[in-house]
Amino acid sequence: MKKYQSVRGMRDILPNESKAFRSLEDKLISSASQYGFQEIKTPILEDTNLFIKSIGGGTDIVEKEMYSFIDSKNNSISMRPEGTASCARALIENGLNDTINKIWYSGPFFRHERPQKGRYRQFHQFGIEFIGVENFEADFEIISLANNMWRNLNINPTLTINSIGDSDDRKKYINVLVEYLKKYENSFNENEKNKLKLNPLRILDTKNIKTLEILEQAPKISEYISKESKTHFENLLRLLGDNNIEYIKEEKLVRGLDYYNRTVFEYIDDSDNTQNTICAGGRYDFLFENLCDKKLPALGFAIGIERLIEYTKYEEKDDRIKSFYIITLSEKDHLYSLNIANLIRNISKKFIVSSSYSYKNIKSQLKKADKLSSDYCVIIGQEESKNNTCQIKNMNSGDQKNIGIDAIEQYIRNEICFKE
Ligand code: HAM
Repeated sequence: MKKYQSVRGMRDILPNESKAFRSLEDKLISSASQYGFQEIKTPILEDTNLFIKSIGGGTDIVEKEMYSFIDSKNNSISMRPEGTASCARALIENGLNDTINKIWYSGPFFRHERPQKGRYRQFHQFGIEFIGVENFEADFEIISLANNMWRNLNINPTLTINSIGDSDDRKKYINVLVEYLKKYENSFNENEKNKLKLNPLRILDTKNIKTLEILEQAPKISEYISKESKTHFENLLRLLGDNNIEYIKEEKLVRGLDYYNRTVFEYIDDSDNTQNTICAGGRYDFLFENLCDKKLPALGFAIGIERLIEYTKYEEKDDRIKSFYIITLSEKDHLYSLNIANLIRNISKKFIVSSSYSYKNIKSQLKKADKLSSDYCVIIGQEESKNNTCQIKNMNSGDQKNIGIDAIEQYIRNEICFKE
């Protein structure tokens, strides 16, 4: 028989990992909520043109990585490769762009990239978007929020930051950059030659050592950005410095999505991971104007959840969570065992109680409890149900005690030294 497998680059997130996912997400949500961000959920599918118009037709994401298809009405539809364009579309469509200005989202995104560690075709992002504030203080606020998240997770990724100016500045810069790079075109690989034609700024991202050498003498974007962009950036850097937020100014950081202007930044996992950007974002003051003819400054960032889990080696750890496995030796005592299960669940929301329904010999049921890594077994035989008691076995120490139903709560509280 054919063995079915998940689609290449798309993985199952099994219970052990999904626990970490959920708990990590809860921490990110808690930070975002404290800064006044509210949740938005947008559809997985969007009009392909939305992404062409916002991310840009010449970008890798749009040109090579989108999952797009033609629907039965001949419309081109794409699975969302990122969240910013969808958020802008949703706020415009629902007339909320003046009232709701801080949103967060979390969910799956899709890019047809070459799968490797930290790079998947279906991956998860937690993102925030802050709409309507042009001042550099807003840039500072979202970086502070990211840092607040890292603090809650006990990590300290490196912040790299740059300003790519406004679109006129960038046009001027691209002209001089292309003029400079053309002299070296023969040393470029096919991919770089392609980028030189379609999206020359992306050459700055190269990892090719030869090209990096060529870039050392290339014109720098900071020399071409307007006075306003420069002041915005300098004020932001000053505020970061005043607040002891460390950063690395990186002239070559340009980002792979066309909607950005002025501030762009990334947080890098500084261990030796190859896919090491765990969070990225920046300003996109012209995206709304591009989609609805109304100028509305905005900025945001998105965190790659898989990469963050990998970086933090994040595991859900809560010593208060205890698992109980209820072993009943006869079917007729099922109701009795259900009452005990509920009694234990009511002691604390942190207690996980499951029942064995096999009614088989106790040995095989204890083995199952062990496999499930249960902390305690509650054993109910005929004697116990007749006398309104149960046996509680500590699976770690092996200790086992006969406890009356009325004393279960007190016994568990003492035994576990339980604190809410
Ligand atoms: P991005 O840099 O394309 O930006 O993605 C943000 C983050 O998503 C990356 O830094 C990375 O951690 C994660 N990521 C991206 N692609 C993959 C992949 N194939 N597999 C695993 N993780 C991945 C954006 O998407 C922008 N919308 C961010 C933003 C929000 N800018 C302003 N607001």
